[in-house]
Amino acid sequence: MDVVEELIKNHRLTQNQYEKLLGLWQDPQTAGRLAQEAVRLRKEYYGDQVYTRGLIEFTNYCKNDCYYCGIRRGNPHAVRYRLTEEEILECCQQGHELGFRTFVLQGGEDPYFTDERMAQIVRRIKQEYPEHALTLSIGERSYESYRLLREAGADRYLLRHETANDAHYHSLHPKEMSLDARKQCLYQLKELGYQVGAGFMVGSPGQTMACLAEDLVFLQELQPHMVGIGPFIPHHDTIYASEKPGSVELTLYLLSVIRIMLPRVLLPATTALGTLDPRGREKGLEAGANVVMPNLSPVKNRKLYDLYDNKICTGEEAAECRGCLSRRVESVGYHLVVARGDSRQ
Ligand code: SAM
Ligand code: FES
Repeated sequence: MDVVEELIKNHRLTQNQYEKLLGLWQDPQTAGRLAQEAVRLRKEYYGDQVYTRGLIEFTNYCKNDCYYCGIRRGNPHAVRYRLTEEEILECCQQGHELGFRTFVLQGGEDPYFTDERMAQIVRRIKQEYPEHALTLSIGERSYESYRLLREAGADRYLLRHETANDAHYHSLHPKEMSLDARKQCLYQLKELGYQVGAGFMVGSPGQTMACLAEDLVFLQELQPHMVGIGPFIPHHDTIYASEKPGSVELTLYLLSVIRIMLPRVLLPATTALGTLDPRGREKGLEAGANVVMPNLSPVKNRKLYDLYDNKICTGEEAAECRGCLSRRVESVGYHLVVARGDSRQ
């Protein structure tokens, strides 16, 4: 049996087999077969529904210095902001009115947001919106911190592992950061009962097909509820300013592989995909994705959450973003739904 059929049958492969599978990404027949199976599986578990998450980028202060990231602490040109608790609640109110039943609080690792401040925000959101799911994406914290935030009511946590290859991880991050620490956070979050999301950039500098195969093996082992992948896009104020962006086609291929590997996974068609290709998010849905994450942040702050160059959706009001995405989703035969959108585990 070839690797494609084996993945479809067993939903898992070895490192060597993933490398072989990834070697075929430019073969249209293989990509087509994988996409067909990915769509069949997403329809089996999620029908034609697409879940939305209202993304609130609440701070761009960060104590980390990830070399690829436009808001890393070492970028003196980044204009910093943080939203107040009231502003965050206003975003939620607007999001609720627009039909969002999941809010995602994402930010840099901002020491201002201590456990107490964060727990207070989580409690307030959950008090006002008890039916809604709340996702946090605020980087690496202690077990105790994750426990407090979970107790305060957070339901989900997004923490991309970025790359599962140790040497590659070290090439993308300063020495105080480590892949082991990242992985440990993910396992702790799982243990605490969060729905957990891992993920990586496609085409980050120095990434090889073997690295991507390691990413897939790691996801297979972690069995996350969510996987966020998007192409790497250079930012002009980083050492990677003149690197090539990741490939849209390879990202789509990986979306299909991940859907087949984890048939019930929540898989977003990301903003980065939409940034590199005007139909990137639609193509993501056609490759097996089932989630979109429109921006709910105040328009005055959007451009400042500047992870990479030419990021889309930074000028529109939340309502426009939702309308635009809804039309895009319909154009490929799916429907945005008003629902928390938990994973069908
Ligand atoms: N601080 C949190 C964390 O580290 O998980 C969340 C914010 S961080 C900016 C969110 C994600 O943005 C990262 O996990 C990374 O994969 C992605 N990202 C950062 N720079 C990027 C770039 N240049 N191109 C594409 N994605 C990027
Ligand atoms: Fe912290 Fe990018 S370096 S969010």
